[in-house]
Amino acid sequence: MKEIDVSWYDDRATVYDTLHEGSLVPYESVVNELDNLFKPYGVRTVLDMACGTGGHALPIARRGYQVTGGDLSVAMIAEATKKARDQNLSVAFHQGDMRTTCHGSFDALICMNNSLGHITEPEDFSITLANFRKNLKTGGLLFIDHFNGAFMREIKSGYARVGRSLTTEQGVVVDIERSIYSEELQSLIVTTKTYTQKHTEEDVIISTDVFQMKLWTKEQMDEAIVKAGFRPLAFYDGMMSGKLQEFKGVESPSLATFAQAV
Ligand SMILES: C[S@@+](CC[C@H](N)C(=O)[O-])C[C@H]1O[C@@H](n2cnc3c(N)ncnc32)[C@H](O)[C@@H]1O
Repeated sequence: MKEIDVSWYDDRATVYDTLHEGSLVPYESVVNELDNLFKPYGVRTVLDMACGTGGHALPIARRGYQVTGGDLSVAMIAEATKKARDQNLSVAFHQGDMRTTCHGSFDALICMNNSLGHITEPEDFSITLANFRKNLKTGGLLFIDHFNGAFMREIKSGYARVGRSLTTEQGVVVDIERSIYSEELQSLIVTTKTYTQKHTEEDVIISTDVFQMKLWTKEQMDEAIVKAGFRPLAFYDGMMSGKLQEFKGVESPSLATFAQAV
C-alpha cells in the first residue's frame, strides 16, 4: 500500500480554515443538503472519513446526529477536536487511514471535498471503497463529493486559486494554489506555495508542495462502488456551490455520488 504523505495538512492545520477550504466551501448549505438526503432514511450515526478540521462533522453534529470523524493527519484531528470543544459539541475524532481504519458500523458515511483524490493508486481505490462498506451497516448511505474527472479532462487546464491571505504577527501569510490536469495520471497536479510577505524584507517561503489529486468519471465511480458492495441511488453536481443539482456530464465541475450499502 502506497504511503500517503499528509505533512502538507499537518503544517497548515491551524490556518486551514482561514487559508484553505474553510474560506471557500459553503459547509452549512452543504450540510443542509446532506440532512435532507439522510432524513428519509432515519440516519442517526454519521462517519466523516477524511474529516479535516471538522468543517462538515461539526455542523452535522449541531443538527442532532451522532458524528465520528477520521483523518490521517494528527494535526487536522487536533484542530477538529479543539473546535468541537470550543463549540461545546460532542464529536469523536480519531486519527486513521480511510483505506484501512474501521471506526465502527454507521448509518451514513461521507467523504467530502475531494479528499478521496489523495487515494491515487487503483488498487488502493478499491480497498478504500471496500473499507467504506465495512464502516456501514447494510442499508447505510454513502456520500462522496469529488471533482468530476470528465469535466477536468474536457477543460484540460484545471483551476487556480490565488492570493488568499491571513494577517499574523509574522506578517501577511499568502497562499497560492494552482492545479493542472494530467491526462496520463487522470489527476490534477496541484502546486501550492505558502509564504509570509513582509513590507521591509524579502518574502519568506513557508512551504511549497506538489501533490497528485486523482479524478474519476461518473462511469468509473459507478462501476467501482457497485464492485465494493453499493447500490447507486443518485449522482449530483453542485456541492461546490452548496446546492445539490442535476449532474450534467462534462458540464458539471463536481460529482456527488450517493449510494446505499447492500
Ligand atoms: C481537502 S481536505 C478535506 C477535509 C474535509 N473533508 C473538508 O471538507 O474540509 C483532505 C483531507 O484528507 C485527509 N487525508 C488524506 N489522505 C487520507 C487518508 N488516507 N486517510 C484519511 N484521511 C486522509 C487529509 O489529511 C485532509 O484532512
